[in-house]
Amino acid sequence: MIQFSDVTKYYDDDLVLKDLTFTVGKGELAFLTGPSGVGKTTLLKLIYAAELPDEGNIVVAGWDIRKLKQNTIPYLRRHVGIVFQDFRLLFNKTVFDNVALALRIHDMHPKEIREDVLEILKEVRLKHKAHIYPQHLSGGEQQRVVIARAMVSKPTVLLADEPTGNLDADTSLAITNLFREINARGTTVLIATHSASLYQGTGRRVFHLRDSNIEKETVG
Ligand SMILES: Nc1ncnc2c1ncn2[C@@H]1O[C@H](COP(=O)(O)OP(=O)(O)OP(=O)(O)O)[C@@H](O)[C@H]1O
Ligand SMILES: [Mg+2]
Repeated sequence: MIQFSDVTKYYDDDLVLKDLTFTVGKGELAFLTGPSGVGKTTLLKLIYAAELPDEGNIVVAGWDIRKLKQNTIPYLRRHVGIVFQDFRLLFNKTVFDNVALALRIHDMHPKEIREDVLEILKEVRLKHKAHIYPQHLSGGEQQRVVIARAMVSKPTVLLADEPTGNLDADTSLAITNLFREINARGTTVLIATHSASLYQGTGRRVFHLRDSNIEKETVG
């Protein structure tokens, strides 16, 4: 589902990733970890073509990233949901509208949008807060809305960058369980995190980035 072959990425002259090769299979849930600045976010950005590789090949959900034209990138993005820290909720819109926004750009019928949004809000257990504004939600609830927004267009791949960053241990566990449920229904999930507690005991593959490459792969 996600396939990197000898991928090298520079920012100007700064090498971030060098000859990186790995795959995440269809329906897999895997983790990416490593010290700050090692390139985790960069790797995720390569997957949804927010950054392009300097060398090597990346195939995501059947799309060859290097062959994508600017005008076909939106098609790839329909298949890739992202939960990123710099992609926050709109505070002047309700929970419902924050999630619906992801569908409105797809030109869907309002009734269909309503059904899909309420269904995904039910899944993240926030249907009863659909008409609340995000500033009146807890951090964990806000993060569940972010996940709902990423999932509402039914992506085949879900990418999460430090999804439990500022959350306490119990809330982190609830968010992690939500990713497991999403994965159990067939979505391929890749989670980047510093936090070993997120992957320990999961039995899932963990890629450890160091010095521009995967230093080792373990099972969490
Ligand atoms: N847009 C950019 N332009 C230039 N350099 C960048 C850019 N984005 C990231 N970098 C650099 O690339 C390296 C990898 O950054 P990246 O954000 O991928 O690391 P990270 O592993 O996600 O770190 P953290 O755990 O702190 O989030 C860093 O040295 C960073 O300064
Ligand atoms: Mg990062």
